[in-house]
Amino acid sequence: MHILITGGAGFIGSHVVRHFLNSYPSYTITNLDKLTYAGNLANLREVERLPNYRFIKGDITDGDFLMRLFEEQRFDGVIHLAAESHVDRSITNPTAFVVTNVLGTVNLLNAAKASWGANLEGKRFYHISTDEVYGSLGSEGMFTEETPYDPHSPYSASKASSDHFVRAWHDTFGLPVVISNCSNNYGSFQFPEKLIPLFINNIIQKKPLPVYGKGENIRDWLWVVDHAQAIDVIYHQGKTGETYNIGGHNEWSNIALIQLLCRIMDTKLGRAAGESEKLVTYVTDRAGHDLRYAIDSSKLQRELGWVPSITFEKGLELTVEWYLTESEWLSNVTSGSYQCYYEEMYRGR
Ligand code: NAD
Ligand code: DAU
Repeated sequence: MHILITGGAGFIGSHVVRHFLNSYPSYTITNLDKLTYAGNLANLREVERLPNYRFIKGDITDGDFLMRLFEEQRFDGVIHLAAESHVDRSITNPTAFVVTNVLGTVNLLNAAKASWGANLEGKRFYHISTDEVYGSLGSEGMFTEETPYDPHSPYSASKASSDHFVRAWHDTFGLPVVISNCSNNYGSFQFPEKLIPLFINNIIQKKPLPVYGKGENIRDWLWVVDHAQAIDVIYHQGKTGETYNIGGHNEWSNIALIQLLCRIMDTKLGRAAGESEKLVTYVTDRAGHDLRYAIDSSKLQRELGWVPSITFEKGLELTVEWYLTESEWLSNVTSGSYQCYYEEMYRGR
C-alpha cells in the first residue's frame, strides 16, 4: 500500500503522517508539501528516518508536476490535507485560497484519475474538509451530513468548492472518493496563528490576548490525535462516495475556552490565579465571523465505531504542557515571517 498524504508538514497532516507510519509499518507513506509558512518539517522529526517514509517538496497547484508524480509513484491512495487553512488570511488574500484549495484539489483529482484509469480496485481519494462549509448556526441544532452548504469566508467558500469538485469526480468519472468534514482541531504542532497556540504563546510572553468581538462565538473542539484516528477509520472503512462529519460534541464559547486556558496556564507557569486573564483584550470582530459551529458526528460513531478518546479539559492540559516543553519549536516558529504576519494582522485592532 502506497499512500500520498498532501500537506503532511502542517498541523493535522503531520499527525496523520505519524499516525499512519506508526500504525501501518508495511505501508509506504509519501508526504507532498510545498512548505508554506504553515509547513514545518520539524513536526515530523520523530518519523523522518523511517524507511517507509519519504518527503517530496512540491506544489499541488502545478498540474503537470502532479501528473508526472502520479505516473512515477503509482499511489494506491491519496489523503488530501494540503490547503491554505487560516480564515483571517483568507480575508486579506482570498485568491491564494482559491488557487491552492480549489485548483490544487482539481489538479490532484485529475492526476489520480489519469493514473488509476479503469483500475480502481483498492484505490481511494480521501479529501479532508471542514465543518465551516455548512455556514453558521444559531443557538439551536447541529451540522449533519445533510446540512446544505452555506460558506461565508473566502476560506470556507474555497473548501466548499473543493468538496463539490471531489463529489463531481465521483459522480462523473467514478473516482472512488470519500470526504470528511471536521470541527476545530487543537493540539501539538499547531501554527500559532490559530486561537489556542496563539494565546498560549501570548500568555507565556505576557502579551495581550486579542479576543474578537465579544468572545461569544462558539466552536466545537476536537483533539487532533482523535481526528487522525478518525481519518484512519474513514480511509479504511468509509463507504465510497460518502461524507462523514467528525467532531467531539464539545462546544465552547471563545471566552469560556480562553478563561479555562488562562487558569491552566496560571497553574502550569506558577502564576497567581487570574493573572493571565488580565491579558484579555477585546478587539474589532473578524469580518463575516460565523457565530456557532456544532458537529453531529453520530453517523461516524454509529457506522464506523469511532469515538473521541479524551475530554477537552485533559486534551487542553496536554496541549499546554506540550507547548511549554517544546519551547524551542515555538520560538523557531514565532520568529521571522510570522512576526511580519502578526504585525500586519493586528495593526490597528
Ligand atoms: P495547516 O495550515 O497547518 O497545514 C497546511 C499544509 O499544507 C502546510 O504544511 C502547507 O505547507 C501545505 N500546503 C499549502 N499549500 C500547498 C500547496 N500549494 N502545495 C502543497 N502543500 C501545500 O493546516 P491544518 O490546520 O493542518 O489543516 C489541514 C487540512 O485540514 C486543511 O485542508 C483544512 O482545511 C482541514 N481542516 C482543518 C481544521 C483545523 O481545525 N485546523 C479542521 C477541519 C479541517
Ligand atoms: O471549524 C474548523 C476550522 O477551524 C478549520 O477549517 C480552519 O482551518 C481552522 O483555522 C479553524 O477555523 P476558526 O476560524 O474557527 O479558527 P481560529 O483558531 O482562527 O479561531 C477560533 C475562534 O477564535 C474564532 O471564533 C475566532 C476567534 N479568534 C481567533 C483568533 C486567531 C479570536 O477571538 N482571536 C484571535 O486572535
